[in-house]
Amino acid sequence: MKKKTLILGIETSCDETAAAVIEENKGTIPNILSNVVSSQVDVHKEFGGVVPELAARSHIEKIDLIVSKAIKESGKDLSDIDGVAVTAGPGLIICLSVGLNFAKSLASSLNKPFIAVNHLEGHALSPKLVADLNFPYLLLLISGGHTQFLSVKKFGKYKRLGTTIDDALGEAFDKTAKMIGIEFPGGPFLEKLAEKGNPNRFKLPRPILKKGGCNMSFAGLKTAILKISKFIKKDDDKKDLAASFQKTIQEILYVKTKYAFKEFRSLSKTKVNNFVIAGGVAANRNIRKTLIDASVEEGFNPIFPPLEFCGDNAAMIAIAGLEKFKLRKFDKLDHPAKPRWPLDDKAAFLKGAGVKL
Ligand code: KG4
Ligand code: ZN
Repeated sequence: MKKKTLILGIETSCDETAAAVIEENKGTIPNILSNVVSSQVDVHKEFGGVVPELAARSHIEKIDLIVSKAIKESGKDLSDIDGVAVTAGPGLIICLSVGLNFAKSLASSLNKPFIAVNHLEGHALSPKLVADLNFPYLLLLISGGHTQFLSVKKFGKYKRLGTTIDDALGEAFDKTAKMIGIEFPGGPFLEKLAEKGNPNRFKLPRPILKKGGCNMSFAGLKTAILKISKFIKKDDDKKDLAASFQKTIQEILYVKTKYAFKEFRSLSKTKVNNFVIAGGVAANRNIRKTLIDASVEEGFNPIFPPLEFCGDNAAMIAIAGLEKFKLRKFDKLDHPAKPRWPLDDKAAFLKGAGVKL
C-alpha cells in the first residue's frame, strides 16, 4: 500500500473559489503542497453583500483555472491524486453545485474516490493542517453563517451545546459594518476601525446573556446599532460605535464560553481540555484575546488555526476529505448539494445551526 496520500480539495460554497493539494505521510501532519483561494470581494463589493447568482457565475469562470493552479503549485500531476474532496454543503446551492459537479467529473475521469465534505467539518478540523489535534475537544465555530459550540467526540461525532438563535456572528459583524458605512466585507474592516475607537462610548444590549446555557442572540444588538447609526455622522463616532460593538461581542463570547466549558466538562472527562476556535471570525485578534483569557481562567487549552485557514479555503476541505479517505468513507457520484447540513443532526433546528446564509 502507498505510504503517502494525496488529496485534492475544492471549495465553492459561498464567495471563495478555492483548491488545495495536501499530502499525508502516514501518521504525520500533512504537507500543504498548495492552497489557492480566489476571493470575489470585488464582484460583490458594490452590492454590500454576496449576490448568489454572481458568485456562482464567478465560480464557473474560475474553477478550472484555480484547480489547475493548485495542481501546478503542488508540483504533482493530476494522476498522482488519490482522492477528490469537495464541499457539498452547507452553502448556497448554485455555488455548491459548481464545485460539486467539477469534482464529480474529475474523480470519475481519474477513476479516483469522490469525497463529499461538510464545510463545517472543514472548519472544525482546520487546526489539524498545522498541528496534532486530539479528540475530544470543545469547538466554537464562528463564521459568516454559523455560531455554534459543539462537543467533538471524534471525527464525525458532534454534539451541539449551543448556537445562535438568530444571526450568525460574522453576519452581525457584516451588517453592523454596513450600517456604520464600512465597505464589504465588513468584519475585518470593522476590527481595523475599532482599533482607534472608544469601546465604552455606547452601551449596547447583550441579548439572553443572563439566561444561562450557551445559546446566543445577536439580532437585538443589530437593531440597537441601526438606531445609533442614524444619528452619528463624524468619523470618531463611527470608530467608537465599531469599538463598542466589538467589545459587546467579546463580553457575550466570554460569558457564553464559560457556560460551554461547564457543559463540555460534564460531558467529557479528559485530562487536557482542548478548545478549538475556527471560522472567519476567529481571525479577529480581540476575540482571540478574550477567548484565550477565558480559557486560561478555566484551564482550557485554546487552539486557533493560523489566520490563512480561518476564512474559507480548500486546504480545510482536503483535510476533512483525508479523514474520510482514511476511513474509506467514499461517496457516490449522485451525492446532492446540501444547503443545510448540520454537524449535529439530532439537535433541534434553529436558524444559525446548519444554514450558511
Ligand atoms: O468562515 P468564513 O470565511 O465564511 C463562512 O463560512 O461563512 O467567514 C466569513 C465571515 C464574514 O462574516 C467576515 O466578515 C468574518 O468572517 N470575518 C471577521 C474577521 N475576518 C473575517 N469578523 C470579525 N473580525 C475579523 N477580523
Ligand atoms: Zn466557512
